[in-house]
Amino acid sequence: MDSPVLFLLLSLSFSLWFSSSSLETIHEGTSLSLIEKSEDILISPDGVFSSGFYSVGYNAYCYAIWFNKPSRGKNLTVIWMANRDEPVNGRSSKLSLLKSGNLILTDAGKFTIWETNTQSLSSVHLSLYNTGNLVLQNMEGVTLWESFDFPTDTLLPQQLLTRNTRLVSSRSQTNHSSGFYKLFFDKDNLLRLLYDGLEVSNVYWPDPGLVSWDAGRSTYNSSRIAVLDTFGKFSSSDNFTVMAADYGPKLHRRLKIDYDGDVRLYSWDEEGETWFVSWQAIQKPCKIYGICGANSLCSYIVGSDRKCSCLPGFKMKNLTDWSYGCEPEFHLSCNRNESSFLLLPSVEFFGYDYGFFPNYTFDQCKNLCLQLCNCKGFQFKFSQDDGFSKCFPKTLLLNGYRSPDFPGDLYLRLPKRNLFSYADYIQHFTLVCSSKGTVQLDRTYKRSRENGIVKFMLWFACGVGGLEIICIFLVWCLLSRTEQTSDADKQGYLVAVTGFRRFTYVELKKATKDFNEEIGRGAGGIVYKGVLPDDRAVAIKRLNELNQGEGEFLAEVSIIRRINHMNLIEMWGYCAEGKHRLLVYEYMEYGSLAQNLSSRALDWKKRFHIAAGTAKGLAYLHEECLEWILHCDVKPQNILLDSNYQPKVADFGLSKLQNRNFENASFSRIRGTRGYMAPEWVFNLPITSKVDVYSYGIVVLEMVTGKGPTKGVHATDCGGEIEPKRLVAWVREKRNVATAMASWLEKIVDPLLGGNYEKDKMEILVTVALQCVEEEKNARPSMSQVVEMLLRQEIDSHSDGHGVNL
Ligand SMILES: *[C@@H]1O[C@H](CO)[C@@H](O)[C@H](O)[C@H]1NC(C)=O
Ligand SMILES: *[C@@H]1O[C@H](CO)[C@@H](O)[C@H](O)[C@H]1NC(C)=O
Ligand SMILES: *[C@@H]1O[C@H](CO)[C@@H](O)[C@H](O)[C@H]1NC(C)=O
Ligand SMILES: *[C@@H]1O[C@H](CO)[C@@H](O)[C@H](O)[C@H]1NC(C)=O
Ligand SMILES: *[C@@H]1O[C@H](CO)[C@@H](O)[C@H](O)[C@H]1NC(C)=O
Ligand SMILES: *[C@@H]1O[C@H](CO)[C@@H](O)[C@H](O)[C@H]1NC(C)=O
Ligand SMILES: *[C@@H]1O[C@H](CO)[C@@H](O)[C@H](O)[C@H]1NC(C)=O
Repeated sequence: MDSPVLFLLLSLSFSLWFSSSSLETIHEGTSLSLIEKSEDILISPDGVFSSGFYSVGYNAYCYAIWFNKPSRGKNLTVIWMANRDEPVNGRSSKLSLLKSGNLILTDAGKFTIWETNTQSLSSVHLSLYNTGNLVLQNMEGVTLWESFDFPTDTLLPQQLLTRNTRLVSSRSQTNHSSGFYKLFFDKDNLLRLLYDGLEVSNVYWPDPGLVSWDAGRSTYNSSRIAVLDTFGKFSSSDNFTVMAADYGPKLHRRLKIDYDGDVRLYSWDEEGETWFVSWQAIQKPCKIYGICGANSLCSYIVGSDRKCSCLPGFKMKNLTDWSYGCEPEFHLSCNRNESSFLLLPSVEFFGYDYGFFPNYTFDQCKNLCLQLCNCKGFQFKFSQDDGFSKCFPKTLLLNGYRSPDFPGDLYLRLPKRNLFSYADYIQHFTLVCSSKGTVQLDRTYKRSRENGIVKFMLWFACGVGGLEIICIFLVWCLLSRTEQTSDADKQGYLVAVTGFRRFTYVELKKATKDFNEEIGRGAGGIVYKGVLPDDRAVAIKRLNELNQGEGEFLAEVSIIRRINHMNLIEMWGYCAEGKHRLLVYEYMEYGSLAQNLSSRALDWKKRFHIAAGTAKGLAYLHEECLEWILHCDVKPQNILLDSNYQPKVADFGLSKLQNRNFENASFSRIRGTRGYMAPEWVFNLPITSKVDVYSYGIVVLEMVTGKGPTKGVHATDCGGEIEPKRLVAWVREKRNVATAMASWLEKIVDPLLGGNYEKDKMEILVTVALQCVEEEKNARPSMSQVVEMLLRQEIDSHSDGHGVNL
């Protein structure tokens, strides 16, 4: 065992892996080298760890320690590296233990790349312990150097993290050189995670918004020591302690700061031959700063993965590396008249505020930003805690993330002249009726009820609703083609292949003969009939005056125009001029379902067809479309009928276009119509797509019975929200007391049908409608389940041979 020459010879031999396994200690005067297709490897006595040259790229090697599991062929688990930032050449580089006691790593060019700077008068030896520690000792047993004192990105059980050491992540999954994330003890004795990037550095754990004691930390113990024990408990002197999910005796564990900035505790699964995560510091990956760089946004995609994207008007600086962030494609002068703002909903940029301006109105905040030359945009949020608005002008846009549960918005400053071309960008953002709570309440809502508490509760309900909107990119539907806006945009025209276009106010005024034929009136505006110069009939909705910038308006219009389904009304264009905001829709010959309910024209076939078509339109809005949209105001007035009595749902996606006046803080308007509103609105519960399901159920019951929910089934009138329940309760009651199916259906079905309907199909329809109006939202089916139930019935009845062709 005392002949180093033997080892070198062995290492050259054929069966290298096994031959080198006898290497447990190397003595002075020995070199471990890297010769093509062979390695000198030092192995711990129990065979768990190895150290040797590890390939990090083409002909680039680092001296490393790794787990021998998973077995060769799979990726090795590297736990330490000597020269992570300066790999050596594959040829004739070597690690040598000098007689002086120094351990040196020399590159092929004979340069010393790395050394332990140790010296000893007596002879020294290097051993790899069972703990994974590489130790250099002299004859007296004194430890001169150990790898445990110089961790890279991994902490092994029993290895101390101290005031002098820190864990530094690797640059990426494949690049092992030092990255931007660090786990270390800060000056105030707290163990923190830091993003130490190219331009800025930020602490992101514990949450910078929390003071130490709120985070459960203590600044008083200055020993600054953290350690992971073999049972899976990690504890640090600032009173931070965590236990692995699989706490207990376990063969192998390691704590690592991963390249993505999260710290994870891994356990080895012997059977599966893999590592699994038994704890991680950060659950929401967008809370880890820096990964997306400046002027870019982190957002969650399906699952908990995150992705980066540049803000509108910005492009990626380095196409291969997000940490460089994005840079503007425009030049913005200081002249306030040349700037405009684009709304990015639920977007937060952490830090780099010009200041904090509480109680500023939206306009004050905007003006403040316009006055500051270096203001890149501003964050505006309305705090639920104290009921006041907050304004944060931003000097840098860093640490941006988008999350549906963030209660504020970012208004990005962009040059006015090409604001229009960014409108399409907003397609990525969710549009939900509950956002901001500035949604419309039906006019019948009594003024006296609008007291402060109700206002607040409704507003709050809306805020909470946002939490549930997690499936942002649920399905990229067919429409996701990215129609780039052309030069025509500069003239203010958005001429897409679909014929969607921008109209001038004068054109629309002419088309409607000066707005003289009113065909509808609803939340947010009045609808007029019009005829375009090409003879197409249109319905033009003139939105109530609102304080909304053109950019925002266009952004929202651009979302709506992408929504395309045969059971959804199609938008043909819009007008945004001065204070005028108009939307141009296809014209529906037969008007709304509400107008037709009392007519004999609506026979059973048509009613069932309308019920099924409406369900399809809503299911598309909820689940299939680009955006995840709640309608929030499903009622017969919003279901329009074309010349074939094909139903088309109208008035969706408009919530943001309607009434967004922060100034008046009119949070009293919730969207929805009395009689069709789900109990969630009233009981301050989270708003989900199930509010539409509820309203749909009421509409179907109304179609079947011919009785409106607000009219009251019995003659007595008592105001409030109990009325829809009466229709529901009445139908339920009739069903429950009935013995034979036919008898109860006869009692509830609209006499206008004259008994001409298919009983089994009718029963299904009513049963589905009753499920839709369950008080408990989870008991209601989803819109797509409704479609399925109705269509299944249709197919069944076809096969029975007495179906109706729809
Ligand atoms: C090995 O690592 C590479 C990237 O570092 C990864 O793409 C590959 O899937 C890994 N292979 C295995 C078997 O884990
Ligand atoms: C790893 O990242 C560093 C720092 O950005 C870079 O200099 C180096 O070239 C990268 N190495 C590889 C193999 O890509
Ligand atoms: C340390 O944490 C425990 C709970 O984990 C708490 O009870 C205790 O008060 C903390 N100590 C200090 C000094 O903060
Ligand atoms: C400080 O923390 C260390 C390690 O957790 C512990 O051993 C020591 O007792 C603590 N000191 C005080 C004064 O609490
Ligand atoms: C982009 O980043 C990579 C990796 O950090 C680096 O190697 C490359 O030189 C960068 N390219 C430019 C154009 O800056
Ligand atoms: C901005 O526009 C206003 C009126 O439109 C004008 O009074 C003002 O002088 C303009 N400011 C600059 C810096 O051009
Ligand atoms: C905001 O204004 C209200 C009165 O309008 C005041 O009570 C409150 O303290 C102010 N909030 C802040 C943070 O200044």
